[in-house]
Amino acid sequence: MPTSLIRVGVVFGGASGEHDVSIRSASTVIKALADDSNRERFVVTPLYIDREGRWWSDTIARSVLESGAALTNEELPQPLPARGLRQLPVNPDCIDVWYPVLHGPNGEDGTVQGLFTLMQQPFVGSGVLGSAVGMDKLAMKAAFAVAGISQVPYLGINAADLNNPPQLEHVLVKVEDELGYPCFVKPANLGSSVGISKVRNRDELLAGLQLAAELDPRLVVEQGVNARELECAVLGREHLKASVVGEVRFDADWHDYETKYTEGRSQTLIPAPLPDAVSQRIQAMAVDACRAVHAYGQARVDVFYDEADGRIWLNEINTLPGFTSQSMYPTLWEASGMPLPQLVAELVATAQE
Ligand SMILES: Nc1ncnc2c1ncn2[C@@H]1O[C@H](COP(=O)(O)OP(=O)(O)O)[C@@H](O)[C@H]1O
Ligand SMILES: [Mg+2]
Repeated sequence: MPTSLIRVGVVFGGASGEHDVSIRSASTVIKALADDSNRERFVVTPLYIDREGRWWSDTIARSVLESGAALTNEELPQPLPARGLRQLPVNPDCIDVWYPVLHGPNGEDGTVQGLFTLMQQPFVGSGVLGSAVGMDKLAMKAAFAVAGISQVPYLGINAADLNNPPQLEHVLVKVEDELGYPCFVKPANLGSSVGISKVRNRDELLAGLQLAAELDPRLVVEQGVNARELECAVLGREHLKASVVGEVRFDADWHDYETKYTEGRSQTLIPAPLPDAVSQRIQAMAVDACRAVHAYGQARVDVFYDEADGRIWLNEINTLPGFTSQSMYPTLWEASGMPLPQLVAELVATAQE
């Protein structure tokens, strides 16, 4: 084995609703690391986290990657160990760089980043702070506000307040006075539009709050805007680079779960048809957003753009963006002149900086 070979531990799956996307993202990453141009530089050990948080060896990880589907409890080796991480299925001394390809809670939120930090080993992507702040919409918005980045007006709400009639009345009045209709009700900690409602009156607001409260103790309500949805990819450590800007269009009132995951209902335009000056403002905002939450390595920053008056609002940052061959993050870099094999090699390099 040449001494320069970097041993990369790709961790995927995960106890999150985005388990299946993670499997597809990991396949893309691993293929790119095994590309002809990378073959002499990287050797990959894949590790699979099942839906109940158990970690499995590369043998099992490879069979998940091959089939492209999660293993059920019955398909995993028996007897099943207790849920969660009990021991690493690999000797950490055999890994040079960890590469988490996990989306959503238990992977994108700082937990696994904390594990790598405690092991004192380098890993791809943001550290504990950036990952945790980027996962929680309320924490993220607070950090963006402090950094002076333009955002849609919003309110943070405790789900517990909905059970107290005077508090609830206060919440409803505050939303109507400060935000008005339509507005968007969101759980602070999910993704893929799960638990989000667009509401147009008090009854819908109440229903939206109740739905979100079943999923999260922390809720966000945002003023609704009529805007184009644009996304920009960021890469780097000390120096953060921004990609060309892409656009998501869909045949629905807003980008809900069904539209996101039904074939043919949304399309991406890369690069987005925009005046250069607007693209440049979005690229600058994307880098500012990373700095505001201390995100680095990789991030996808999503913004709203109101063509009528030229306003741009920051919507959210994703510190572990989707990485399937069709995902926006790698596609934006491809369109910026960086093919997938080079992109994953740069990501590993940012971990070692
Ligand atoms: N304030 C808003 N105004 C208009 N549309 C919104 C607003 N907030 C969310 N949306 C719509 O809901 C979608 C999902 O919201 P987002 O905050 O991006 O959640 P997620 O983290 O689940 O992607 C957005 O892509 C957009 O279509
Ligand atoms: Mg989104």
